[in-house]
Amino acid sequence: MLKELQLSLSVILLLACGFLYQFTLKSSCLFCSPSFKSQQGPEALLSHKRGIVFLETSERIEPPHLVSCAVESAAKIYPERPVAFFMKGLTDSTLTPSNSTYPAFSLLSEIDNVFLFPLDMKRLFEDTPLFSWYTQINTSAERNWLHISSDASRLAIIWKYGGIYMDTDVISIRPIPEENFLAAQDSQYSSNGVFGFLPHHPFLWECMENFVENYNSDIWGNQGPDLMTRMLRVWCKLEDFRELSDLRCLNMSFLHPQRFYPISYPEWRRYYEVWDTDPSFNDSYALHLWNYMNQEGRAVVSGSNTLVENLYQKHCPGTYKDLIQGPEGPVTGELHPGNK
Ligand SMILES: *[C@@H]1O[C@H](CO)[C@@H](O)[C@H](O)[C@H]1NC(C)=O
Ligand SMILES: *[C@@H]1O[C@H](CO)[C@@H](O)[C@H](O)[C@H]1NC(C)=O
Ligand SMILES: *[C@@H]1O[C@H](CO)[C@@H](O)[C@H](O)[C@H]1NC(C)=O
Ligand SMILES: *[C@@H]1O[C@H](CO)[C@@H](O)[C@H](O)[C@H]1NC(C)=O
Repeated sequence: MLKELQLSLSVILLLACGFLYQFTLKSSCLFCSPSFKSQQGPEALLSHKRGIVFLETSERIEPPHLVSCAVESAAKIYPERPVAFFMKGLTDSTLTPSNSTYPAFSLLSEIDNVFLFPLDMKRLFEDTPLFSWYTQINTSAERNWLHISSDASRLAIIWKYGGIYMDTDVISIRPIPEENFLAAQDSQYSSNGVFGFLPHHPFLWECMENFVENYNSDIWGNQGPDLMTRMLRVWCKLEDFRELSDLRCLNMSFLHPQRFYPISYPEWRRYYEVWDTDPSFNDSYALHLWNYMNQEGRAVVSGSNTLVENLYQKHCPGTYKDLIQGPEGPVTGELHPGNK
């Protein structure tokens, strides 16, 4: 009898511990202070559940509307997964500056499953082929350093933790039902703006090796989409897409351009136009807005009924609310590495 009692007590204790553990892991805090979220390191967070990863390699802390929309829409589409935003401008000592100077930063840090982390490249590249390259390079002599460091960081993060990487101009509209995938931007050409892998996938390891072996910062995209495409050709026999089907190769999928690029880059201005009927994007998981092309600084104008305004309203309502309430936000036309 006593034994039974002991046994059931232990079971109850175990259950209670398990419950508490689960509860603590849920981002929406046990002690209900936003700083609690930031105290958990990226390793603990992302090795528990595979996340969605965004990067900001410039020192900028306050995200423009498009970046805020990308992160918010991912948080909305993947409510059960952590959305990790690594920012170079955050340091361990920066306490979340959640005040009115940084409305979008505050908006994002208040979302339960969004986590903002400092981007510490040296630490990130440890134990990867990128480490020796990184320690030898003179970063201030590299013209495209913001882009190159972004290309390198995304490979290392997804190799280490697994999950999905997305550029900060990608609006999520439905979950991606794949674990190991690359996104075609065109027939037989891979983007590096969205991709996903399980942790320690050898494809990404080989990408990092090839990154270092073929490093040439003077060729645009050489460490980015060109690298992914090069490696995909090594791993797979690439064919053209048939109708709307994805391609399979070993345990990876090469996703049809419709999944992320239903509007191709020469057409990017279509996002900023009014359509007779907004497209349903039924064959897409997320929309890449080609911010890199937007050097003329097109922005979302409230009340304009453009496709992009309607996308904001539907997929990132918090950002949209800020946008219509706030002063005319920063124009989205700057060149930024997180969103080519
Ligand atoms: C907001 O935070 C920034 C940076 O931490 C600081 O410089 C600024 O004075 C703060 N503004 C207010 C209103 O607290
Ligand atoms: C790194 O590059 C900058 C800019 O070209 C140069 O001024 C500096 O001397 C270089 N540093 C080293 C250690 O080579
Ligand atoms: C995927 O394929 C690679 C190469 O064949 C293999 O090393 C890796 O373990 C596989 N991963 C999974 C999750 O099956
Ligand atoms: C898109 O999908 C929805 C639901 O799956 C369906 O009702 C609708 O007809 C589809 N639209 C088009 C244009 O295929």
